[in-house]
Amino acid sequence: MAKRLLRSLTGEAVWPPPVWLMRQAGRYLPEYRDVRARAGGFIELCTTPALAEEVTLQPLRRFGFDAAILFSDILLLPWALGQDLRYGDGEGPVLAPIRDAAGLAALRSEGVPGALAAVMETLRRLRSSVGDVALIGFAGGPFTVACYMVEGCGAREWSAARLLAWRDPPLFSALLELLTEQTIYYLLAQIEAGAEAVMLFDSCAGLAAPSMFRAYVAAPSARIIAALRARHPEVPVIGFPRRAGCLVGEFVAATGVDGIGLDTSWDPAMAAATLPRRVAIQGNLDPLALVAGGAVLQRETEAILAAMRGRPFIFNLGHGIVPETPLEHVAALMARLRAA
Ligand code: CP3
Repeated sequence: MAKRLLRSLTGEAVWPPPVWLMRQAGRYLPEYRDVRARAGGFIELCTTPALAEEVTLQPLRRFGFDAAILFSDILLLPWALGQDLRYGDGEGPVLAPIRDAAGLAALRSEGVPGALAAVMETLRRLRSSVGDVALIGFAGGPFTVACYMVEGCGAREWSAARLLAWRDPPLFSALLELLTEQTIYYLLAQIEAGAEAVMLFDSCAGLAAPSMFRAYVAAPSARIIAALRARHPEVPVIGFPRRAGCLVGEFVAATGVDGIGLDTSWDPAMAAATLPRRVAIQGNLDPLALVAGGAVLQRETEAILAAMRGRPFIFNLGHGIVPETPLEHVAALMARLRAA
C-alpha cells in the first residue's frame, strides 16, 4: 500500500487528508533548539548527516506527520557553488551579493557534488529510518535562489534582483540557466539517494511581473520537472510559487506539477473550484492562526477541510511554521485532522 501522501500526489482523494507543515523541523521545538546549539552553526547542522537526520525525525516523533522533509536549506546550492553564506542569529541568511558578470563567473559548478554529498548521506539514512511516512526532498525555485544571490539577504521587495532582471537580461538569464541546471542535478541526486517526492520552493515568485514570472519562474520550473520526469516518472513534484495569485493556474498548466502548494492568501473554496482536479492542493492555513489557536484555528481549519474534501489534498500551512508556535496548538490541529 503506497504511503498516504504519495497517494494524494497521484490524484487520490485520501481522507482524512495527509498532513505535514513547512519548516516542521525548527525553532518552535525545544529538541531542535538543543541540537542546533550543539551543532555550532546552521550550515554545520545541514551538512552533518547524523544531526540533520535527527532534526528531520523530531517533529514526526512528536506529532506523527505524514511526511518527513529533508532538513537542509534552499541556500545550500549557492553555498555549494562557492558563494559566501552565513546564518546570523535571528537575522536570517546573508550572502555576498552577485551583481555583475565577474560575480557570476566566480561561481563553480564543479564543487557542487562534493559540497552536497552530506545531504545525500542524510537522505540515505532517512530512507531507512522514516518508516511508513513519505520522504520529501526539495530545492529552491531558481528565481527565488537568484533573488537571494543578487540581493544578498532577505528583502521585502527584492528590488536589486528585479532591477537586475530588467536591466541586464543576459546576466540574469545566465544565472537562472546555471541554477536550473544545478537544481536538476541536485534533485536527481536527492531522488537517487531516497527522496520519494520533491518540492520546489519559489517563495519570491509573487514579486515577479507576469512576463518575468513566465521567463524566470514557470519556464525554469517546467524544465526542471521535465528533466526529473525523464529519469524518474514515478516521483511526484510539488510546486510552490508563493503569492503568485492569478498566475498559479498558468503555472500548474505550464509545469505539469503533481501538487501545488498554496499560500495563505488563497480562498480554499475558490482554489478547489478553479484548479484542475488532477493536481493535489497543498495548504494553506495561516501560520499565525496556528499561533493564535482556539476558535480562530478551529474556524480556519474547518474552512479548508470543507473546501478540500473529495479532492486530492495535503493539509499544510500557507508558509513556514514560526518559532512562537505553541506545541499544544500543533497537537490540537493534528487531533482535529485525524478525526476529519
Ligand atoms: O521545512 C523543513 O522543516 C525543512 C527544512 C527547510 C528549511 N528552510 C530549514 C531552515 C526548508 C524546506 C527551508 C526552505 C527555505 N529556506 C525557503 C523557502 C520557504 C520559505 O520559508 O519561504 C527560504 C526562503 C529559505 C531561506 C532561509 N533559510 C531563510 C529566509 C532563513 C531565516 C529565517 C528563519 O526562520 O530564521 C533560513 C534559515 C532556516 N532554514 C532555519 C530553518 C529551520 C532557521 C535556522 C535556525 O535554526 O536558526
